[in-house]
Amino acid sequence: MSASLPYVLILYYSRHGATCAMAERLAAGVESVRGVEARLRTVPPVSPTCEAVDPEIPEEGAIYASLDDLRHCAGLAIGSPTRFGNMAAPLKHFLDGTSELWLGGALIDRPATAFTSTSSLHGGQEATLLTMLVPLLHHGMVYAGLPYSETELMATTGGGTPYGASHLAGKRSDRPLDDEERSLAHAQGRRLARLALALAAMREESA
Ligand SMILES: Cc1cc2nc3c(=O)[nH]c(=O)nc-3n(C[C@H](O)[C@H](O)[C@H](O)COP(=O)(O)O)c2cc1C
Repeated sequence: MSASLPYVLILYYSRHGATCAMAERLAAGVESVRGVEARLRTVPPVSPTCEAVDPEIPEEGAIYASLDDLRHCAGLAIGSPTRFGNMAAPLKHFLDGTSELWLGGALIDRPATAFTSTSSLHGGQEATLLTMLVPLLHHGMVYAGLPYSETELMATTGGGTPYGASHLAGKRSDRPLDDEERSLAHAQGRRLARLALALAAMREESA
């Protein structure tokens, strides 16, 4: 991994692995674009007691995101399980700690997208994606969903929406990503990477 390449931050929370599997597909899509890399980061769970602390480095999987991971990203994909039609608290908790970046306008004109997983087909995927978009707009980011030129959007019988990739994990949260869901998550990562490069060039031009 080269330190000098721009990166797309794929920031996600996943309790049972479905959102993590999506994050990995988005990362593959990002890395299919020359000149940009994917940086996978997660966030720690939140605890009902503020005395409880988690190790700084998780036992497995992606490491925890820092503010600097976000500050310097060329693009951002955020992913969360749907929880009552909204993102999960750990991700919201992380975003609630980003005022410093908001005050400095660090994320203005950077592309962003969102992805989610649900247990039930009509359990709020679009609602979650739209609610996840709101803080990104406050940060001045440019939101990119999925266009219908991705033909799987019409064919899917699981997840996949124009607001972003999604996944139907099923009642026991154990249904793997199907072909359409995999393809759409990959396309979303690829699109975000291309937009990240284009907007980086635009920012440089106007600097
Ligand atoms: C507190 C809570 C709320 C949830 N709310 C919803 C919901 O509104 N709709 C839905 O379909 N699934 C809901 N789920 C199920 C998760 O979205 C689903 O299991 C998801 O695939 C988990 O993703 P993960 O494997 O990345 O943790 C909820 C789960 C929890 C724990």
